[in-house]
Formats: sequence, C-alpha cells, structure tokens
Amino acid sequence: MTNQTITLNNGVELPVLGFGVFQTPPEATQAAVEEALRIGYRMVDTAAAYLNESEVGAAIAASGVDRADLFVQTKAWVSDYSYDGALHAVDRSLRKLGLDTVDLFLLHQPLPQDLDATVDAYRGLERALEEGRVRAIGISNFSQAHLETVLPRLSVVPAVNQVEVHPFYSQAELRAEHARLGIATQAWSPLGGVYVYAAGRSGREPQSALSDPVITGIAERLGKTPAQVILRWHIDSGRSAIPKSVRPERIAENLDVFDVRLAADDIASIDALDTGVRGGPNQDQQDFRDFGLTIPD
Ligand SMILES: NC(=O)c1ccc[n+]([C@@H]2O[C@H](COP(=O)([O-])OP(=O)(O)OC[C@H]3O[C@@H](n4cnc5c(N)ncnc54)[C@H](OP(=O)(O)O)[C@@H]3O)[C@@H](O)[C@H]2O)c1
Repeated sequence: MTNQTITLNNGVELPVLGFGVFQTPPEATQAAVEEALRIGYRMVDTAAAYLNESEVGAAIAASGVDRADLFVQTKAWVSDYSYDGALHAVDRSLRKLGLDTVDLFLLHQPLPQDLDATVDAYRGLERALEEGRVRAIGISNFSQAHLETVLPRLSVVPAVNQVEVHPFYSQAELRAEHARLGIATQAWSPLGGVYVYAAGRSGREPQSALSDPVITGIAERLGKTPAQVILRWHIDSGRSAIPKSVRPERIAENLDVFDVRLAADDIASIDALDTGVRGGPNQDQQDFRDFGLTIPD
C-alpha cells in the first residue's frame, strides 16, 4: 500500500514514505527524483537550502505524474526568517518547483538565537496557508523546549515537526509531546544516515544502524533488508520517513516495504537501540546564520 498516509491536524493526508534529496547534488537530483516517481514514490522532501528545488521541479514536470497524486514538501532557510522573507521564500520555492501550491512548507530550523525572527517567519507561512499557496505548514528540528517557547505565539499549530529519528536516536519524549499536541513526527535520516556521514565532524566512529545485529536479525527472519526493517519500524510506529538515495536499486529497495509489518516486540527491540545521542547539529549551540548561506532567487 504505497499510498498509506497519516492525517495531519488540518485534514491533509501526508504519505508515510517519501523521497529525500539532502546532499543529492543538483546534477544528480532530476534523475534520482524521476526514478523515484517512476517506480511509485509519491512524496518528495526538498529544501531551499539543498539548492536543488529547480531540479526536483524538472523531475516532477518530466514524470507525467498527476499533480493531485503528488505530495511535495520544502523548507524555508534561516536567511529568509522574517514575515516578508518567509512569503518571498514561498514564492521562490513555488517558482523553482514549477508549482502553484506546495503540500507542506516547513521552517527548516528554529533560531533559538532569534526566536522573534523564527515566529515572524512562521507567521509568514500562516499567511501563505491562508492564501492557499501551501496546503499545510510545519517546522523542523524544534526541540521540546523550542516548542514550549514558540507554540503559544503561533495561530496555527504546526502540522509536522521533521526531526532526526532513527534507531540510535529515537526521541521518544519529543514524539510523545508531538502526539499530545497533534503534531505529526516526520523522521529525517530515517536510516541513520547522519550517524555515518556526520560522524567525522563529531569525532565519533561512524555507526550504521543497517549493520546492527538487532536489525539484521529481524531482517533475516522477515526476508527483508535492514533498510526495509528500519523503514517499517518508522511506519509501524506511526511516523512518516523520507529516506534518501541516488542509487536506483536502493531507491527501489526503500519503497518495497508495504508487504510486511513489524510485531510489537520487534518494534520494542529497535526502540531499545536508542543511545540518546544525536548525529546532527544542536540548534542551541549552532547559529545557522553563521553558515552565511543565502538562497539565490
Ligand atoms: N530537516 C533537516 O534538517 C534534515 C536533515 C537531514 C536530512 N533531511 C531529509 O531527510 C532525508 C534523508 O536523510 P539522510 O539523507 O540524512 O539520511 P538517510 O536517508 O537515513 O540515509 C541516507 C544514506 O544512506 C544510504 N542509503 C540509502 N538507502 C540505503 C539502503 N537501502 N541501504 C544502504 N544504504 C542506503 C544513502 O546512500 P546512497 O545515496 O549512495 O544510496 C545515504 O548515504 C534527506 O534527504 C532530507 O530530505 C532533513
């Protein structure tokens, strides 16, 4: 059932499985997204900061897939964090994607160093939602503390918080808070990719959840691959996940997950792999404006 969805707090249906394109170079993006759409993915996750929205748009246009059957989501970068800036970010993303509406528009990061700007940008997204240029709005990389501070200042409860979730960092407390607030959790680095590619930055040894014996054991028993078991763990726990690959065989592998379900004790044994240690950056320590990235028009 590749069209399985989660109903967001405004009634919009979010596919449980999508296709991520972070770190997919622009020159490889169109082919990867075209391949994903060709074999049946119906959701794509990009971001202004990935600098490949135009190539995602070209793939959508070339795919021949009906717009109504597609769920396209993107994110505003911190250089656009003001009310007008966020509205401009929506215009720019729509233009690059070649679309009239985006299904889900997220603030890419909280700026704990400037929560006023973060809230102003979200208000811009609220306006774009009112105008019908986006079908749902949300956030990414917000911690429980960020939510507590920012939520009372928002008119529209975010539909989604896209955060790092994989077997080694599963964020149970944050997810419980999401459930209480009616916010859907979407897992980035769902396979634990960040634990591999960002390990060098943090001085840790790379660790791949894909070779963890708990995961490989379940995979052998079910006749699935480790990546498929991890994606099922997300889906069977009620999350949306957006694995990235540029390799056709893995793009297909990551979609071929709709013929099994994990038993509760398998889900529990994967939950138990949590280390409580994030692979990605800590927004309270890293001011993303320091990267100096501004999004070209
Ligand atoms: N909101 C945020 O701040 C944020 C941060 C990070 C990511 N994201 C989103 O989440 C998406 C996925 O995250 P991610 O790319 O960090 O991590 P991921 O999807 O967990 O892992 C991707 C890595 O795993 C490899 N891979 C993919 N499928 C595989 C398979 N079946 N078997 C073995 N290896 C496999 C990929 O390599 P190949 O490409 O060579 O196959 C890539 O190196 C991103 O593309 C982006 O859309 C959002």
